[in-house]
Amino acid sequence: MSNQTPCITVNETTKTFSLTSPGVSYIFHADPSGELIHDHFGPPITSHLPPDIGGPDGGWGSYLTRVPRELPDSGRGDFRLPAIRIRKRTGNTVLRLEYVSYEIIPGKPKLPGLPATFGEESDVSTLVIHLTDPVSLISVYVSYSIFPRYDAIARSLRIVNNGDEEVVVEQAASFCVDMPSGEWEMLQLSGDWAREARVVKRPVVLGTQGFQSLTGYSSHLHNPFLVLTSPRTTETHGQTYGFSLIYSGSHSFQVEKGSVGLTRVLAGMHPDHLSWPLSPKGGEFTTPECVAVFSAEGLGGMSRKYHSLYRGHLCKSRWVDRPRPALINNWEATYFDMNQQNLALIAKRGSELGVGLFVMDDGWFGVKHPRLSDNAGLGDWVVNPERFPDGLGDFVTRVTGFEVKKLDNKEDNTEDKTTTKMKFGIWVEPEMVNPASELFETHPEWVLQAEGYPLTEARNQLVLDLSQSAVQDYIIDKLTDILNSADISYVKWDNNRGMHELPSPSVPHAYMLGLYRVLGTLTTRFPEVLWEGCASGGGRFDPGLYHYWAQSWTSDNTDAIDRLFIQFGTSLVYPPSSMGAHVSAVPNHQTGRTTPLEFRAHVALMGGSFGFELDLNKLPEEEQAQIPRLVALSEKVNPLVITGDLYRLERPDESNWPTAMFVSPDKAKSSAVVLAYRMQSIINWHSPPVRLQGLDPEATYELEEEGQEAVEYTGRTLMNAGLRLALKGDYQSRVIFLRRK
Ligand code: GLA
Repeated sequence: MSNQTPCITVNETTKTFSLTSPGVSYIFHADPSGELIHDHFGPPITSHLPPDIGGPDGGWGSYLTRVPRELPDSGRGDFRLPAIRIRKRTGNTVLRLEYVSYEIIPGKPKLPGLPATFGEESDVSTLVIHLTDPVSLISVYVSYSIFPRYDAIARSLRIVNNGDEEVVVEQAASFCVDMPSGEWEMLQLSGDWAREARVVKRPVVLGTQGFQSLTGYSSHLHNPFLVLTSPRTTETHGQTYGFSLIYSGSHSFQVEKGSVGLTRVLAGMHPDHLSWPLSPKGGEFTTPECVAVFSAEGLGGMSRKYHSLYRGHLCKSRWVDRPRPALINNWEATYFDMNQQNLALIAKRGSELGVGLFVMDDGWFGVKHPRLSDNAGLGDWVVNPERFPDGLGDFVTRVTGFEVKKLDNKEDNTEDKTTTKMKFGIWVEPEMVNPASELFETHPEWVLQAEGYPLTEARNQLVLDLSQSAVQDYIIDKLTDILNSADISYVKWDNNRGMHELPSPSVPHAYMLGLYRVLGTLTTRFPEVLWEGCASGGGRFDPGLYHYWAQSWTSDNTDAIDRLFIQFGTSLVYPPSSMGAHVSAVPNHQTGRTTPLEFRAHVALMGGSFGFELDLNKLPEEEQAQIPRLVALSEKVNPLVITGDLYRLERPDESNWPTAMFVSPDKAKSSAVVLAYRMQSIINWHSPPVRLQGLDPEATYELEEEGQEAVEYTGRTLMNAGLRLALKGDYQSRVIFLRRK
């Protein structure tokens, strides 16, 4: 056991633990009774803290009601929401967790069965605090891992039952922190299907306020992410605390401003989908981890820390830092009306116009119960012989034989001499089954069900019970067969309903562990495949799945204006490189809005996976002629989206001129791209200057834009005076590249 690392220090006399990086300190201590007391979370602290004198003095509350606690257990007079609640055989849920010891671990141990951040000893250090309840002999190990480069602290709990009777974990919040008295605001990403990730901000008032998912998945309704800020925090200024749960199941985020003014933040699995039994003499449970990031530079600073941390230390995909091919997906072009002829025409035209990847969406499978609409076939992952009489392998061979004609990115847009072949992607929804399927006929016992209750269908389908290892194995085998059967480079993994009737409240978590086993196995077996998550759009856009898959379909809503809100919101915590964004037909199928092709494409450039979701053959000829240029533009922007630092110069929920800027991650800030939009025309009004961020003030940058003369300005001028873009009309946009001279 050591008591020093550069980031973790322990004062043995006062039992004070400090996790410190250049931008954050997190400090707590064990008091003489063994209670863990929280001292500070925020900007760095360089000496011991001034004593906390004064404070509340009367009323019903005990000592525990009045102090900031690090792991509030239940039943001993705290009267605020507990972080941990465990039911004993006798029925009581009282817990008295007392400090026992600590351990410092260089690096970061894995969390068994769960996706989590990772890093070498030079990236991260871990402090584990051991607490025990002397009555029930339940131990809790609270693990804090600090990533100093990102001012991030990942926390999780391991609960061990050393007693001789079974107990049930009813609640176990991964993160819990009591913030000091003062004014706070909270921000969340909420919405619904096709309206994901709207930024919702509200003041924290006395009492509890929060949000949750009880869908069994992370959901469109509320993303597993919360921000707490001081009231005047903006994109660029102010104290900002993010809490991001690395989990894909039901979750709960609660903020409680207690009667004496302290504000408690709780983030973790939803208690209604937990109830985890621990066997006597050693049964244990590990919670998912929650990553807290502190930024003194507002929401933008916080987002960039999450983006870099998650790209470098959460996502395991080889694709995480690779530019993604422009793709064409047939869903909005054909819906279920697909076959090998019409798909080949869509793919062929894509390849002629420079698109490198064709993705075949829903509708290609089912023999006895062909998937002609959403009422049949899910579960039967065999190609439909009527629609593909030559078989899947033959169709893939045909598409992967198409030559991709490219414009290169030279000034004169001359045709690139090197040709590549089109890649092939496939849609699957492996966790689901239609009652009209051979799988359900053979294995009705494989679906989630509560004995005696009717099975509620949603989108005519049922959820397979991935807590069963036979179900996990079936999915692994089927996907392995498909991927071995043809040259498939990309998988879109969909999931289109929530969980209803459950055999027991613990099944959703057992399901998640099963799902993570399936994904771990398949992504290890097929590491070169580009996997994309999807759940009716962004219904499972969460850090748990980002561990396995480098991108997710951001929303079923492809309307460019709505997409600005969805993409800017999602970017609060998720790297833009993880967002799928496509150009679709107009009038838009979801909203009926008509926006220009150029604007739609410029909005889609903000996502790491740029693509088209329409039949290019059906575009007017003059628009088809624009496609090679737009693909070439996407190939130029994409590397900056994949690895660059995002600056949200303006957000659509705050401005008519939302603007995103990506700056190359090198020290010299040698290149950047500005994606500037104007949503609506405003008569008789100056467009505000677009003040850039993140550049070297001393450097000179050359600005380059299609159809414009190159101009030069210093970084300081661009950041202090800003660009004057004078966009006119509705749905206007500009893409401007910067290169350091
Ligand atoms: C979901 C997805 C869509 C599409 C359909 C297919 O809604 O989000 O992109 O794949 O399923 O059924």
